[in-house]
Amino acid sequence: MSITQDSPTAARSGASASESFKASKERRGAADTSPERVSTIVSAVLKGVHAAISDHDVTYPEFQAAKAWLMEVGETGEWPLFMDVFVEHVVEEVASRQQHGTKGTIEGPYYLPNQVRLPSTAVLPHRDDEAGTPLTLSGQVRDLDGTPLAGAEIDTWHADSDGFYSGFAPGLPDGNLRGVVVAGDDGQFSISTVQPAPYQIPTDGPTGKMIEAAGWHPWRPAHLHIMVRAAGHRTITTQLYFAGGDWLDSDVAEAVKPELVLEPKVDETGIARVTYDFELEQA
Ligand code: DHB
Ligand code: FE
Repeated sequence: MSITQDSPTAARSGASASESFKASKERRGAADTSPERVSTIVSAVLKGVHAAISDHDVTYPEFQAAKAWLMEVGETGEWPLFMDVFVEHVVEEVASRQQHGTKGTIEGPYYLPNQVRLPSTAVLPHRDDEAGTPLTLSGQVRDLDGTPLAGAEIDTWHADSDGFYSGFAPGLPDGNLRGVVVAGDDGQFSISTVQPAPYQIPTDGPTGKMIEAAGWHPWRPAHLHIMVRAAGHRTITTQLYFAGGDWLDSDVAEAVKPELVLEPKVDETGIARVTYDFELEQA
């Protein structure tokens, strides 16, 4: 695999996502899975693979091609990308069975901790010539009883108007379009940024090649990633989408939920404005 001029981000996004994942060990927590449970789950996974082979008469050349592809996913560091696009949504659905308040969805591979802390009315760090429609998201963080959560952290990250994430695609300043907005005493916040573009899975890596080989499309609809934290409350990891946007009904990562779709209205100054409130349950 080479990093091409046309698509400078592809190969590097995988490798950077792998580095970032390795660095997040502490934040992820321990799995602590019993041998019985490992046996049950691994057996079920293998059974699914065996059934796919048997039901579809998979050939030796196909089996060997699959091995070569798996090796390439590892060598290019694309496992975090692949897992978060094709698998995380089910893990999140299982987790959300036990959760109340604002709907969560997948975190994806591009979160970075320890970004700049910003006041309750904030503009996300951006380049002087940052392209894209100005967007302001405001709202309130509350608990399930409606009590405002003063000092809640709205940790926000999103792609730029070309669909690229800082810290993963080359050429973007560190921390661009990322920030931890701290809600005021009334739980209120207002975040100004630019409208992100849809995100495309890097097409020249093994994940992209598999998508192409299957005749699928590699797109996620435009989205804001948001993690909301407040002392004594369960952290919400979610994404907000935009009504009418491309790929909303066919997200490759299957992570869109109807409750998470915004309808911003462009005001007379050209700013797309929308409100969204977050409700956190007690930990
Ligand atoms: C992936 C990228 C994203 O921006 C996202 O939100 C989810 C998944 C990915 O490439 O795996
Ligand atoms: Fe994303």
